This record gives sequence, C-alpha cells and structure tokens, in this order.
Amino acid sequence: MTRLHDEDADDPRHPEEHIAPVPRISVQAFCETEQTLKAVTAAGQDRRLAKAHLTARDGGLAAAIEVYESMPTPNVIVIESDGTRDILEGLDDLAGVCDPGTRVVVIGNPNDTAPYRELVRRGVNDYVVGPVETLDVVRSICSLFSASEAIITGRVIAVVGAKGGVGASTVAHNLAWTIARDLALDSVVIDLDLAFGTAGLDYNQDPVQGIANAVLSQDRPDTALMERLLAKCTERLSLLAAPATLDRVYDFGAEAFDAVFDTLRMTTPCIVLDVPHQWSGWTRRALVNADDIVIVAEPDLANLRNTKNMLSVLKAARPNDRPPLYCLNQVGMHKRAEIEVKAFAKTMESQPIAVIPFDSKLFSTAANNGQMIAEVSKTHRTTLLFQNMANRLAGRGEVKKPKRSLLEPLLKKLKGRSSRNSAPHRKAS
Ligand SMILES: Nc1ncnc2c1ncn2[C@@H]1O[C@H](COP(=O)(O)OP(=O)(O)OP(=O)(O)O)[C@@H](O)[C@H]1O
Ligand SMILES: [Mg+2]
Repeated sequence: MTRLHDEDADDPRHPEEHIAPVPRISVQAFCETEQTLKAVTAAGQDRRLAKAHLTARDGGLAAAIEVYESMPTPNVIVIESDGTRDILEGLDDLAGVCDPGTRVVVIGNPNDTAPYRELVRRGVNDYVVGPVETLDVVRSICSLFSASEAIITGRVIAVVGAKGGVGASTVAHNLAWTIARDLALDSVVIDLDLAFGTAGLDYNQDPVQGIANAVLSQDRPDTALMERLLAKCTERLSLLAAPATLDRVYDFGAEAFDAVFDTLRMTTPCIVLDVPHQWSGWTRRALVNADDIVIVAEPDLANLRNTKNMLSVLKAARPNDRPPLYCLNQVGMHKRAEIEVKAFAKTMESQPIAVIPFDSKLFSTAANNGQMIAEVSKTHRTTLLFQNMANRLAGRGEVKKPKRSLLEPLLKKLKGRSSRNSAPHRKAS
C-alpha cells in the first residue's frame, strides 16, 4: 500500500489502521529473546491493552508447558519460538495442558519450517514472524478479539482546544458531519461539554439530554439505551447532546465515560468527541484512549505553549500511536498580530492538519442558523479543508478541488439566459 502523506513517514502504522482495544482478558507470554520480552512488556502498557492483565517471562514453549501442567491457562498465551526446537511437537505438548477456549499466539523465528496450516491445525490463532516490535504484539493480541466477534469496533476521534473559544467544537461538529456525509460512515458526536456544549445548537436539534442520561444512569449503558438517547441530525450522523443546563455540577471520575464509549463503539464506525478545554482525569483519559486526537489552536503564544505541552504529554502516553494532530483555526484575523504558521509548525515539529482562515461572516452565519459550513457554502475553501481533514482522519487520500473550467462563468451566464428564455410566458392580462 502506498503512503498517502509525507507526514506519515515516521508513523509506525498505516494511518487507516485501526486496532481495537481488548476487553478484560488475561495474557501470559513466554519469550525466548530479550527483544521479544521487551516488546511484549511494552505492549502491556499500550492503551489498547489497558484492560488486559498481561505478564511476560522468559523460557519459551518449555516454560509454558511446565507452568500449565499445574495451573489453568489464561485467555491468551503468547509463545516465542527460537527455531531450535520442533515447534509442532512443542505445540502438541502445550495442547495437552491447555484449557479449551485459550487462544494462542506464536511469535515465530525465520528458521521455523512448520507450514502455517499445521500451526492452525494445532490451534494456533495467530502467527507473527519475529523479531517483533511492540505494535506487532498489540496488533496480534487485539486481532484475536476484534476479528472474531461480529461487532463494529468504532474509531474514536477526540477534538480538543488548546485554549477556550478557539473553535474546537466548530471543528469537531463540521468534521463529524463531513465524515458522515462524504465518507458515508455512520457517525456520532458526543458533546462532552455538559454545562455549555453547543452541538445541539450547531446541528439545530431540540434539547435532548443524551450524554448526561448515559453517564449518570444507575445501570451500565447498553446499546438500546444509547439508541434512545441519540438525536438524529442527518442520515448518517447522530448526536449525544449535552444538557447545557446548570442545575447541577458536572464532576466525574476518570473512568466515568468508559462504559458509554465502549457501548457506542460496538455499533458506530466513527465517534467524534467534542472534548471541552480542561485538564481533568476524565478529559485526559478520553484523549489518551482515542484513536486519533486533533488539537485546535489559534496562532498566538498561549496556544503555542499549550499545544506543545499537550502534544508532548499525549505523545508520551501513547508511544505506539501516531502523534496527535493539530489544526490552526481563525488564522488571518484582521489587525491581529499572529504567530506565523511556519513558526508554529517548527515549534511543534510537525505540520498542522489544516489551517482554517478566520472568517467571521461564514462562521457566524453557520452558528446562528444552526448549519454546517458546507451548508452555508458548498464550494467555499473552508468546506474543502473540512473534507480534507475528514479524509485524512478516516485514512483516505486528499480531496483535490475540482478544476474550474475557464469557460465556467460563460456557461453559467448562458445557462441563466436560456432558463430565463425557456420560463413560461405570463399570460398577458
Ligand atoms: N475560523 C473561524 N472564523 C471565525 N469564527 C470562528 C472560526 N472558528 C470558530 N469560530 C467561532 O468562534 C466561536 C467559538 O467557537 P467554538 O464554540 O467552536 O469554540 P470552542 O473552542 O469549542 O469553545 P469552548 O472553549 O467554549 O468550548 C464560535 O462563535 C464560532 O462560530
Ligand atoms: Mg467547545
């Protein structure tokens, strides 16, 4: 597969690769080499294996067989083969002590000669040729669970502002709307700004208390409850709206939203989180656990500092993911001293995913009418920017603006004239 963007050159995965997190499972690994032990241990720290209980030790197949002679087997066993022993024979011995239902991943050696189908016949669920990196291990373990269940594992895109009022919600809402319409992906926006969220206004929806009911419900949310709480905005876009009322305060524990996100991910291919500009346990967790993060910033000093800090903290918390993306918004405001895009990008050591111009007429018209930018102007440059962003985040190529024919204005005029000419003549009174 060809790379779509230069910026993705140091991306350890394809931009469109989506590795879904695992449920609460136990994983035990038996490694032969130092490198594999390191990779597996690091995989245990990855966000997608956060719910798993993973232990790794050395000793390979022989150690595994010895251990499971006296102990029940976990949900997943990872075995490294160093190529010195007949792997099929070893797997036969392991099968004798393995509980049914345990899944087995083999990290093989290029010297292994066993045919793949023989491995499968012995109950091996996945085979990866070593040497492996952390992400190979994460991918392999996660694939055992996402591929086998007939459920959708939705992709979560978290959008957050580097400062308040920079336009993060506007970007989140337009992005989700565009993904739903242009990429035809069923999408849900979750407005996490419970007290002041504007998603309901932006999509011109009557007030529904979606997210508050879901997160404050005594029972664990299920798909049926989520369906009831979603407000349908377009054919493929739904909203879990914020109450935007102040009769109570909204303090949450770090894991308060986990069940809501997990439930929605089972039925929705794309979930866009409108994360308010605050740094608390649950906002940090929503960002760290997202598949992609978009930080929206204005080109000033405070935004520069905050974006840099957010990028570095989030990068460190997600060593096996592509780095968070950022977008510059409200660029080119009249008479405002701004940090140049080039200088901003140099400090971030990466290019913005989009540079959205300041346009008070366009954005205020959209906001006041409860419309998206594309609904105000189908062909506006900013509409195209949102299309590009949607493509980039859903892992497709860039959208090229259709080339405008030099004859277009002339053709338009002629068309106008001919339709006027063909309009039914009024009867003379
Ligand atoms: N590129 C732009 N040009 C002009 N106005 C914009 C632009 N982007 C957003 N706005 C306007 O800026 C205002 C704030 O936008 P928005 O509510 O999306 O920001 P936010 O970062 O989510 O704010 P908050 O911190 O309150 O959540 C809105 O009125 C919106 O219409
Ligand atoms: Mg907002």
